[in-house]
Amino acid sequence: MKIPIDSARLQKEIDQLSLISEQPAPVVTRVLFSEADLKGREFVKNLFRQADLAVREDAVGNIFARWEGQDKSLSPVATGSHIDAIPNAGKYDGVVGVLGAIEAIRGLQTSGFVPHRSIECIVFTAEEPTRFGLGCLGSRLLAGTLSGDKIAGLRDGNGHDLEFWRKRAGLPGGDVAAARMAENTYAGFVELHIEQGPVLEQRNVAIGIVERIAAPASLRLQLTGVGGHAGGVLMPGRRDALLAGAEIALEVEKAALTSGSPDTVATTGVFRIEPGAVNSVPCHATLEIDLRDTQLASRDAALKRIEAAAAEICRRRGIGLQLERLNVDAPAICDGALVQLVSGVCGELGLSSIKMISRAYHDTLFMARICPAIMIFIPCRGGVSHRPDEYSSPQQIADGVAVLAETLRRLAA
Ligand code: GLV
Ligand code: MN
Ligand code: MN
Repeated sequence: MKIPIDSARLQKEIDQLSLISEQPAPVVTRVLFSEADLKGREFVKNLFRQADLAVREDAVGNIFARWEGQDKSLSPVATGSHIDAIPNAGKYDGVVGVLGAIEAIRGLQTSGFVPHRSIECIVFTAEEPTRFGLGCLGSRLLAGTLSGDKIAGLRDGNGHDLEFWRKRAGLPGGDVAAARMAENTYAGFVELHIEQGPVLEQRNVAIGIVERIAAPASLRLQLTGVGGHAGGVLMPGRRDALLAGAEIALEVEKAALTSGSPDTVATTGVFRIEPGAVNSVPCHATLEIDLRDTQLASRDAALKRIEAAAAEICRRRGIGLQLERLNVDAPAICDGALVQLVSGVCGELGLSSIKMISRAYHDTLFMARICPAIMIFIPCRGGVSHRPDEYSSPQQIADGVAVLAETLRRLAA
């Protein structure tokens, strides 16, 4: 059965959603629970309702849209991704997996398919770590991996906690931990996403079937030195927080370059200083460091090396150091039977495919802990992502949606 995919309609919706942004086009910025994020959520919820899906939201703002199956006693099949976007992002990261899922469901509806199992589309809260420094907030909670203390301790750059933002977003219920799902609530989870790397384009392949997701970790460092007048404080007496941070950032690079694993990547993506005046010695610095590897052992060795280097640098420079491990996650293994299923679907649809790893993390990292899970990747131009010039063509997206729709059809039949 050929499932009709309306690529023009989907592209129009991707373009419309991209205009709901905190910054002018082509920049997409939709930080969790910002005005733009809330408007984006409304946009998506309206599309769900237009497709006759039943919409509900949990206490942390994960959105669930259900196409009820004939046998309500069976566990549903789930799909979905995220619509939040880091500052200065593009329009496809996450969005393809949400709007693409809606198009897949509409295509299945048009084809006359009647699902036996329910199909549920999930829009996960805060896949991006921008607000609280912690990515995959919604899926972490679904998988029950966050302690009450960790949830209560989450703070954004202005000191606001999750409760503050939850209330502003008008979310129901108070017990965020109750979002946790029992294992195997879903019969399977399938996430469609752009690759965010160059492999598919370089190899001229339409579909990537993800077998593993690299293990991410991140650190937040608060460095406290002594500020003062840039003219008055002589060099030998200085305790400059920026300079300690700069040395640490170089150690971060070195830890990745010398880990012995080609897959170790480490980034100091946040480096804020205070007071931030040209004639004032920086008294405070905040660094956030992102570290990943496909192999846990080399990731963990690099992590320890960075932590030890930060302690030594701060001791030597007389700088106070507060170091917090924001997350230290294991890699995810996708479900072997789902890998085979998607591979078969690609073959039948006449689409080339390869099995691959995901170097970016995704909500699948956590969904894989509570149900069989798989990711479908499509190419993106130059492997570019987390930038406004991120691009996948309508045909590449339509191919991914076709694979998603057929996979959902088989799982829900
Ligand atoms: C997800 O956006 C990631 O940083 O991998
Ligand atoms: Mn992203
Ligand atoms: Mn993403």
